[in-house]
Amino acid sequence: MAKDFDVLVIGAGPGGYIAAIRAAQLGFSVGCVERWRTPKGEPALGGTCLNVGCIPSKALLESSENYERVLHKFAEHGIAAERVTVDLAKMLARKDRIVARMTSGIATLFKKNKIEWLRGHGRFASGGNPLRVEVTGEEGVQTVEARHVIVATGSKPRHLPGIEVDQVVIADNEGALSFDSVPKRLGVIGAGVIGLELGSVWRRLGAQVTLLEALPEFLPAADEAISKEAWKLFTREQGLDIRLGVKILQVERNGRTVVVEYEDDKGRQSLGVDRLIVSVGRVPNTDGLGLEAVGLSTDARGFIEVDQYCRTRVPNVYAIGDVVRGPMLAHKAEDEGIMVAERIAGQAGHVNYDAIPWVIYTAPEIAWVGKTEQQLQQEGVEYRSGRFPFSINGRALGQGEPAGFVKILAHAQTDRVLGVHILGAHASELISEAAMALEFSASAEDIARVCHPHPSLSEVVREAALAVDKRALNM
Ligand code: FAD
Ligand code: NAI
Repeated sequence: MAKDFDVLVIGAGPGGYIAAIRAAQLGFSVGCVERWRTPKGEPALGGTCLNVGCIPSKALLESSENYERVLHKFAEHGIAAERVTVDLAKMLARKDRIVARMTSGIATLFKKNKIEWLRGHGRFASGGNPLRVEVTGEEGVQTVEARHVIVATGSKPRHLPGIEVDQVVIADNEGALSFDSVPKRLGVIGAGVIGLELGSVWRRLGAQVTLLEALPEFLPAADEAISKEAWKLFTREQGLDIRLGVKILQVERNGRTVVVEYEDDKGRQSLGVDRLIVSVGRVPNTDGLGLEAVGLSTDARGFIEVDQYCRTRVPNVYAIGDVVRGPMLAHKAEDEGIMVAERIAGQAGHVNYDAIPWVIYTAPEIAWVGKTEQQLQQEGVEYRSGRFPFSINGRALGQGEPAGFVKILAHAQTDRVLGVHILGAHASELISEAAMALEFSASAEDIARVCHPHPSLSEVVREAALAVDKRALNM
């Protein structure tokens, strides 16, 4: 007899594994289909985020930042270090250990919550209630039944036609997290989130990094004041060579060199590099999923269509995370997973898509939540703006992190916080306070009246809130 579940989740990335745990907490019998294998061929949970995304990239960020601190920042503390070297194999092994610990942690959580991990590729076999899903794994094909299916199959890197990714010399995020030596010259196609984060990692480890970006503007999704200041820091102070408005013409291997031919406003150009990262966005993963068997299809961009509650057109099929519209972020996928599990249980789970924070883990970090000043202008919303720099905050100076600022946008009449934008050390931590302010419909004055610890970076958030009313205290 076929195994049957109340809820079957396809995909165990942050969307899928969190949906499975929440559904189990709510009393459902839950199965989760996951096909991921590590480079050693071992099955693993955690999806893109834990295996080749958020977690390994942040491990390398920290290692490379430590190296840069020793080389360039320790001296002003009176700490001298000689003959500093990088053992890249050890650095990568540390990253791999963190990944293994995190992914095996999910396996433990599955056991604790009595979630059955079905190892293999999941594919819809037929619709109706129960739905039938075929799982193709090492032991062959098994068919399972479920009253509800949550599709959480995530995304994969978008590749460019004519550029063969071998993950050794020309890599997407997967290879770029495992280069076995520091390239002398590193090229990156796409100056988006991955390009900036991983480009910065390899720059700090010694590579000369050139980013080739199709758009004429730098980081257009961020508030303009932030992207302008970040541009100055990344290009002038850190030496990232970012070329905007380029059109890639062709990429060729010439011996050990990769030659990228491109065009910009100066005409045809050629760039020779030792390794190349292609980071031009990601595409939803629906290959071999059998959507047609349940009467579903994808939209023009390949996403599964859903409403604000992640419901598809088929009543007992839901889709969450990178495979549906909205930002491709792990915390967005998680929150959708919680929402769907709760709605299946008849609860009122919801996601506030207007309060999802963004973080770019460069150094300093960039983080924001809510509207940018440019969006408010386009929408004709009247606003007031307050801004405060880290350079006059005692904790930031003590940490040697004076770069950047916090900018708060609040409604001109009601003072309600509409957007918070941060460029600075630990912006990823500071932005949570802002996300909470947005969720609770706080005013800038509310933030300003909250007692913030001294000395702390969070005082800059408070001062920016005071600055909305032109009454910052320390400036
Ligand atoms: P995924 O994590 O992609 O998981 C989908 C899972 O489904 C995979 O394990 C896949 O094997 C499985 N699957 C697919 N199809 C099938 C099938 N038919 N049968 C069985 N299994 C299947 N986001 C952040 O918020 N913060 C960050 O710092 C961050 N850093 C990132 C860094 C990098 C280098 C990359 C590439 C991404 C990063 N992201 C980050 C984005 C984040 O990883 C994704 O938004 C997140 O993983 C999406 O979660 P998901 O559950 O939708 O999909
Ligand atoms: P991205 O969308 O952030 O950036 C891709 C960049 O490539 C864009 O600037 C785009 O204009 C450019 N581009 C596209 N085609 C090009 C071409 N032919 N030539 C030159 N440039 C081209 O995508 P990225 O960096 O690949 O990351 C994918 C997604 O993963 C992100 O959108 C984000 O959702 C997620 N992510 C999130 C992180 C975080 O939260 N800190 C970190 C890394 C990834």
